[in-house]
Amino acid sequence: MKKYFDSCPETINENGLYGFSWIESVLAIPSPLVCVTSYKENGLPNATMQSWCTFDGNEGFHVLFSAVNKNTHMYSSIMKSKHFVVNFPSKDVFMKCYATIENNDYSKDEITASGLTAETALKVNAPLIKECFLNLECKLEWVKEIKENSDHYVFCAEVVGIHMDEEHFNAEKLGRYEETGYLYNIHSPINPDNGDKMETQIGVIHKLGSYDKL
Ligand SMILES: Cc1cc2nc3c(=O)[nH]c(=O)nc-3n(C[C@H](O)[C@H](O)[C@H](O)COP(=O)(O)O)c2cc1C
Repeated sequence: MKKYFDSCPETINENGLYGFSWIESVLAIPSPLVCVTSYKENGLPNATMQSWCTFDGNEGFHVLFSAVNKNTHMYSSIMKSKHFVVNFPSKDVFMKCYATIENNDYSKDEITASGLTAETALKVNAPLIKECFLNLECKLEWVKEIKENSDHYVFCAEVVGIHMDEEHFNAEKLGRYEETGYLYNIHSPINPDNGDKMETQIGVIHKLGSYDKL
């Protein structure tokens, strides 16, 4: 039986959602886990975990971030430089990318401080994380507030170059999916029937097979 919701269920305490909508927690739709790198205005590498993102492959190839907080270094550095790199960690690299949040200091090289290696991108003025299996070099095209006077902006950027580990584009080796591939963020799912809340989880894609297998 389906249940219909158009307001926050009484079982959910909105004060415990850290500003996120109750719909976010009821749906808990997974989104790709990435780390965005750019140069801060002082020239030092910046690194920001991001998850609310998607892609368009029709007009060239674009990455869209749906919720960039304007109070982050990512927002200020990319608004100035217009260049950045989207880095995809596999599970063995994830915790080092996550450590960039602890090392979120304007006077730090956030990549090196987190035990990772910063390399220079080829077409954009931004660092990339060597240990990540995929790096997308991006040029910012436009930004827009998600709502008037919001703290959060949509960023749309064209991907102008990609670095991909050959073992990951080979499905016979590490591949793109399952345990060794893309990571997904499953943000704090809540059961609206009783308010039970799960910790944020990390997921991978388990393939079911081609259409004729279903
Ligand atoms: C899994 C994960 C996903 C995140 N996604 C976003 C996001 O989509 N937008 C955002 O503004 N912050 C997001 N954050 C929070 C930023 O990574 C965090 O505020 C960071 O310290 C900002 O770094 P900066 O000031 O160097 O840019 C996320 C954090 C985590 C752990």
